Amino acid sequence: MGLSPERSFIAGAMMFQNMVFSNHTQFGKPVGRWVMMLECKPAREDQYDKFFRFIENEDPGYIENAMRVMKITWEELRYLFRTVGEVWGIYFDDELAGFYWIEKRQNVLHLHALVLKKEFRRKGIGTWVLNMLEDKYRESIDAIELGVHKSNEVGISLYRSLGYRTVKVIEDLGFWIMKKQLTNRV
Ligand SMILES: CC(C)(COP(=O)(O)OP(=O)(O)OC[C@H]1O[C@@H](n2cnc3c(N)ncnc32)[C@H](O)[C@@H]1OP(=O)(O)O)[C@@H](O)C(=O)NCCC(=O)NCCS
Repeated sequence: MGLSPERSFIAGAMMFQNMVFSNHTQFGKPVGRWVMMLECKPAREDQYDKFFRFIENEDPGYIENAMRVMKITWEELRYLFRTVGEVWGIYFDDELAGFYWIEKRQNVLHLHALVLKKEFRRKGIGTWVLNMLEDKYRESIDAIELGVHKSNEVGISLYRSLGYRTVKVIEDLGFWIMKKQLTNRV
């Protein structure tokens, strides 16, 4: 059975446990799984507020920067979050790890947010999500675009490592627009 683009396996660290038998110790018996399941599912109605709180809890500065750039209030952003584009939950072995928020405008996919809970970071999940979006939308879009605050070194490093380039700098707000061109059509 094939996997949909939003579903994949990634290699996990094999877990070992020392197992003690009557006269000897056997090392290195694998007791965990070799792979982890990564999966994205559209946000359920009851998850929107939860995801919104993620941003507050996991990275309070992140949303404030975005709101300054968009010149909107908290309530307006909450409304946009529910009504514009699509929000997807990211699951790591069935556990909610974070979410992303995208919007397709003509031939460009806008990534409005990608947020992982702290304990799920630095495992390659952000990279996997961005690669998955490229694969999923390659046929229907020409580029992926996003905004990032210049102080977000982690985000910038992630996007750069995947080939995103800064195409616009909003100087007074310290915001960068980064883009990855997927085709030569534009
Ligand atoms: C940004 C974010 C989505 C990255 O996701 P992630 O799954 O942790 O990233 P990955 O494990 O795929 O890492 C990919 C690359 O990003 C960079 N990176 C990730 N975490 C980093 C860290 N703590 N320090 C430095 N670079 C880091 C590295 O270049 C890394 O490649 P490497 O592991 O080969 O060095 C995650 O840190 C997050 O949710 N941050 C808070 C919200 C946010 O800032 N979102 C982006 C706003 S535009």
